[in-house]
Amino acid sequence: MFEDESIVAREAVKAAGKILSCMLGNAHHIVKKGEIDLVTEADLAAEKIVLEIVGHNFPQDNILSEEAGRRDETSHRTWLIDPLDGTTNFAHCFPFFAVSIALEIENEVVLGVVYNPYMNEFFEAAKGKGTYLNGEPLRVSATFSLQESLLATGFPYDIHERPEKVLGLFEKMIVRAQGIRRLGSAALDLCYVAAGRLDGFWEEDLKPWDTGAGDIIVREAGGRLTTFGGGPYHPYLKSVVASNGLIHDEMIRAIGD
Ligand code: IPD
Ligand code: CA
Ligand code: CA
Repeated sequence: MFEDESIVAREAVKAAGKILSCMLGNAHHIVKKGEIDLVTEADLAAEKIVLEIVGHNFPQDNILSEEAGRRDETSHRTWLIDPLDGTTNFAHCFPFFAVSIALEIENEVVLGVVYNPYMNEFFEAAKGKGTYLNGEPLRVSATFSLQESLLATGFPYDIHERPEKVLGLFEKMIVRAQGIRRLGSAALDLCYVAAGRLDGFWEEDLKPWDTGAGDIIVREAGGRLTTFGGGPYHPYLKSVVASNGLIHDEMIRAIGD
């Protein structure tokens, strides 16, 4: 199932990753989409190659891509594409960024690939087939309490205008967890939950292209995703909590406290 799609997604993230690796550290033309929301030439170059590869192989499918927007062919299949997740990191030569591609069919993500070219780490998952890192199966951690957990989160681009809610949540978690990281790529944060490097992750205001691939990558590695309220998660929803499953209820209770 989804063999052809997996091959194409793999080819696309690897091609885009190669471009990002070549462009890392070069002077970038940086445009501000918002006060602190950037887009570089690298985002656009990586997106171009992904759109070419996916569009050429699946011309009938919808595409929802961060910089190019939506190409709607009224198909029931939609590719969710983030050509560079971690743009701020990339612009500062902080080597934690990735290319993320997911395929959604009738509102369900069935395939996800995330590639970090700097570390040469390729995460992939397909419905019912498990999650793999460079071909090796992945499993979430066995950590069973928040006190023993390493968590990650991210901050939305309008944090300057409304820091209170984000910082309030951060405080609730930091007093309960072993540690918290803010790494700057939601797609990789989710892959790190799948790999058991992180035990949990939460963030608000992410977009479908940020979490589409990570969604299935966490689920297929045995993890759990919900909204902040504990309801079923879907990449079009506003809030996400992802975890190894064992600490999930504790995270939801902490958020609601
Ligand atoms: C961002 C990253 C970051 C998250 C932001 C996202 P971008 O994506 O995933 O970790 O905190 O909310 O928008 O802009 O680098 O593709
Ligand atoms: Ca992103
Ligand atoms: Ca991006």
